Amino acid sequence: MKIVGSTSSTKLAQEVAELAEAEFIPIETKKFPDGEKYVKICGDVSGDHVAVICSMGHSPDEYLLEYLLTADALKDLGAKNVVSVFPYLAYVRQDERFTPGEAVSLVTVAKLIRSVGISKVYTIDSHRHRRIRIEDVFKIPVRELTSMTEISRYFSKNLHLVNPIVVAPDSGAESWAKTVAETLGCSYTNLEKRRLNAEEVEIKPRTLDIRERDALIIDDIISSGGTIIKAAKKIHEGGARRVFAACAHPLLSSEGLGRIKAAGVEAVIGTNTVQSLVSVVDVAPVIADALSQERS
Ligand code: R5P
Repeated sequence: MKIVGSTSSTKLAQEVAELAEAEFIPIETKKFPDGEKYVKICGDVSGDHVAVICSMGHSPDEYLLEYLLTADALKDLGAKNVVSVFPYLAYVRQDERFTPGEAVSLVTVAKLIRSVGISKVYTIDSHRHRRIRIEDVFKIPVRELTSMTEISRYFSKNLHLVNPIVVAPDSGAESWAKTVAETLGCSYTNLEKRRLNAEEVEIKPRTLDIRERDALIIDDIISSGGTIIKAAKKIHEGGARRVFAACAHPLLSSEGLGRIKAAGVEAVIGTNTVQSLVSVVDVAPVIADALSQERS
């Protein structure tokens, strides 16, 4: 197998290649003066099984187009089979038409992704859907990987949690909270969240057995930080000893991180599916392991 990384994921892809004992093929990209993108595959892929690793954090449109040009070129250059790994897959939250006239972005993006002839999609902790299964949207095999075990290990190793409880800010995050709680050997619960608009959420109070316990809020994405801030407030009101937050995809800015800390969250932890100030958990072993299974 050969591994190609998008410009958003070069370091991660190199690490995956090393762990999976696969050849890393660099790409060259540039922009023409009018803004058009140029992609060149800098290696031979003819007859090969290739995995493209493309995270879509921060500039999803840029990386989506770069991915399309890359994967299509790989097929065109004779790659036998191409699989796509999206450590962070953007556009998954707009998975239905919430108000009349809206584009259902997930469906459109899935169509584009599979249009270049790939055989399988891998994602990590992609947003949980209300009514649809992501495999049905892509219409090709999708394997969902998780970073939650790695996140739990980070907490076990680096923070001495006292009588911990894992908290999902909404029901969509419950399965991740469960995985982390099982790995840490503690209980978990979930709050109830209602999104008021793109920036604002309301977190409903819930009776929490949280007094004098260390609470660890788990979510797939931290973006504006609004969800974590509201959840942390409820948890503090419940008398928690300390509050921590962790996510797979840290899309947050330094201002967002500041606001979360100001809301009494002791530490924020994320993975390197998206590079950020809090990306301390490495997902390369998760991806390398999955791709090694693909090969065998
Ligand atoms: C949405 O339901 C997701 O699971 C996250 O809770 C959400 O994307 C976090 O965004 P923010 O940090 O802007 O509240």
